[in-house]
Amino acid sequence: MFNLVLFGPPGSGKGTQSENIVKTYNLEHISTGDLLRSEVSRATPLGVEAQKYMDQGLLVPDEVVIGMISSKIDESADARGFIFDGFPRTRAQAEALDKLLEFKNTKIDLVLALDVSEAELTKRLIGRGLTSGRSDDTEDVIVKRIKEYRSKTEPVASYYDAHGKLETVQGNHPVEETFKLLSKNINKYLLPVA
Ligand code: AP5
Repeated sequence: MFNLVLFGPPGSGKGTQSENIVKTYNLEHISTGDLLRSEVSRATPLGVEAQKYMDQGLLVPDEVVIGMISSKIDESADARGFIFDGFPRTRAQAEALDKLLEFKNTKIDLVLALDVSEAELTKRLIGRGLTSGRSDDTEDVIVKRIKEYRSKTEPVASYYDAHGKLETVQGNHPVEETFKLLSKNINKYLLPVA
């Protein structure tokens, strides 16, 4: 099993690149943002609670997100591996993920961090907000999401760096070019299937 964390600020291209990686390497995609939005759209108790945080650009509490991840991993026990998109976002989530994977006799193999300038992030998210219908793609919430990332999520990179698992990839390029850079790193661990 090969497990990858795709790491980076809002708008850095985690979702976009995850699609390419899933197609090329046949990994199971776990996006906590997508899972939470699905809960919100079904108005489940978890979704109603999560929406309060998401609409303000704040992180949803760790225990909510960690519980969701655990059951999602169990659903795909036979997967070739997982790509974690938008998770972990705090040190507590990173430690919980390590414990969960250890329990399942596996581990995080690689963390690829997308490095994108703040001006480009804002431009992309405002652009997407014109059509996405996402309540958090407005200018004021984008500012809060980036601030939340800098204070709570960016420090998680050093957790993985200390374990020798972190590689940073320049993500300002067009989608295909960035994908080539990501692939170069993944190919050291896993052969493409497509
Ligand atoms: P989440 O859904 O994870 O959002 P995010 O991290 O803010 O990421 P985005 O989906 O906005 O950006 P992305 O990096 O995936 O970029 P994308 O490919 O979409 O989280 C939303 C909220 O849920 C959080 O704020 C929080 O409240 C909650 N949450 C989620 N996970 C949580 C967790 N683990 N713990 C606690 N709370 C959690 O691209 C963005 C745009 O740019 C698109 O329009 C795309 O077409 C375009 N684009 C992509 N790449 C390029 C490129 N190379 N060139 C030009 N345009 C590009």
